[in-house]
Amino acid sequence: MAPSCTLNRYLLLMAQEHLEFRLPEIKSLLSLFGGQFASSQETYGKSPFWILNIPSEDIARNLMKRTVCAKSIFELWGHGQSPEELYSSLKNYPVEKMVPFLHSDSTYKIKIHTFNKTLTQEEKIKRIDALEFLPFEGKVNLKKPQHVFSVLEDYGLDPNRIPENPHNIYFGRWIADGQRELIESYSVKKRHFIGNTSMDAGLSFIMANHGKVKENDIVFDPFVGTGGLLIASAHFGAYVYGTDIDYNTVHGLGKATRKNQKWRGPDENIRANLRQYGLEKYYLDVLVSDASKPSWRKGTYFDAIITDPPYGIRESTRRTEEACSFPRSHVPVSLSYHLSDMFLDLLNFAAETLVLGGRLVYWLPVYTPEYTEEMVPWHPCLKLISNCEQKLSSHTSRRLITMEKVQKFENRDQYSHLLSDHFLPYQGHNSFREKYFSGVTKEFTVELSSC
Ligand SMILES: C[S@@+](CC[C@H](N)C(=O)[O-])C[C@H]1O[C@@H](n2cnc3c(N)ncnc32)[C@H](O)[C@@H]1O
Repeated sequence: MAPSCTLNRYLLLMAQEHLEFRLPEIKSLLSLFGGQFASSQETYGKSPFWILNIPSEDIARNLMKRTVCAKSIFELWGHGQSPEELYSSLKNYPVEKMVPFLHSDSTYKIKIHTFNKTLTQEEKIKRIDALEFLPFEGKVNLKKPQHVFSVLEDYGLDPNRIPENPHNIYFGRWIADGQRELIESYSVKKRHFIGNTSMDAGLSFIMANHGKVKENDIVFDPFVGTGGLLIASAHFGAYVYGTDIDYNTVHGLGKATRKNQKWRGPDENIRANLRQYGLEKYYLDVLVSDASKPSWRKGTYFDAIITDPPYGIRESTRRTEEACSFPRSHVPVSLSYHLSDMFLDLLNFAAETLVLGGRLVYWLPVYTPEYTEEMVPWHPCLKLISNCEQKLSSHTSRRLITMEKVQKFENRDQYSHLLSDHFLPYQGHNSFREKYFSGVTKEFTVELSSC
């Protein structure tokens, strides 16, 4: 990373949704494209205003082509805790950096953005007039300006205690918006092929960003379902591949999930979903396969494994086993698949098949009264990058775990004793289903879409 004196300051305006997922998303994307958080800003907490140091505007634009957690980015010209502080900070901003955007041939517009307070039109105009000292020489154009500048005022987070004056005021040149519109355009409601555990579009994009998915990557989902997670990765230019134990899901057969439809139509499948979004060229294949018995030759194949394993709420956790009756039958029987075994297998599989630096991103269901960080499954080849909570009910949540492969995988036997010790704390969660239903109340904080 270049020394901070060569970096420019940018202001990110974050969306106030999925708060815990925002920092890992932005950090993952910065590590893909470059940039860092301003050293003065150590805690980002719940605030929608984050200051970043980024080497170039191109990098800021690349970041915004990916993020679903940030709304907009601005080149930061000034910042203060009072109007006077803002104005003196603006007076210190190098004029030569302003001039290209303020010269007489240009057109511009100034917008006022407030967080946690609404200003009258008169108050907004006052704020704009107060910026007269800036060397604006261009013409105002409210409809189609070449440059948009914003004053952003932060009145804190508490809607019951809105201060008279803002805690922070920023002034910046708007650079780009993030990808929030993907949440709507890829909404599951408008998707061709869905199931009752299809992953929400916004979270799918967040997972692909935590996984640092990029163009020409190969991304695998071993519990692919209707392929919601493949769609997000393909949107970012990765080739996608999946497996699922359920024949009907993989082949798009059986009962439909939509209320007014009895059976799935002839073209309801993952490939058709990708086609719907113009992403069919990224489809590698989907197969019927049991994740507890991966049929891969030894090797590293995947840049990212992004998945949502079953938790046993809306669908059972199953694996196959050869029947042990005599004479031996080759027809496999279906056994229940303990969550702790499933995560052990998943981490082993990821450690073995990810390229070095590749990421595993998955959901871990937890019973919150018993949860501790030590419970998060561990593997010597995988480094924990982030662990974010999404509440499901008053006593259960799922945690989005992101790990990165940092060490070459030797062989399974070498890790077996280590792993069983490390997985013990999670074993209490094998009865997650019972715990989930033991106290289900109307206090649900999210509609449980993916269990
Ligand atoms: C939560 S759903 C995945 C939903 C998916 N992300 C989507 O957007 O549709 C979990 C999937 O895991 C599958 N599954 C359950 N046990 C499995 C196993 N042993 N091996 C492979 N897939 C399995 C289920 O059939 C189900 O489709």
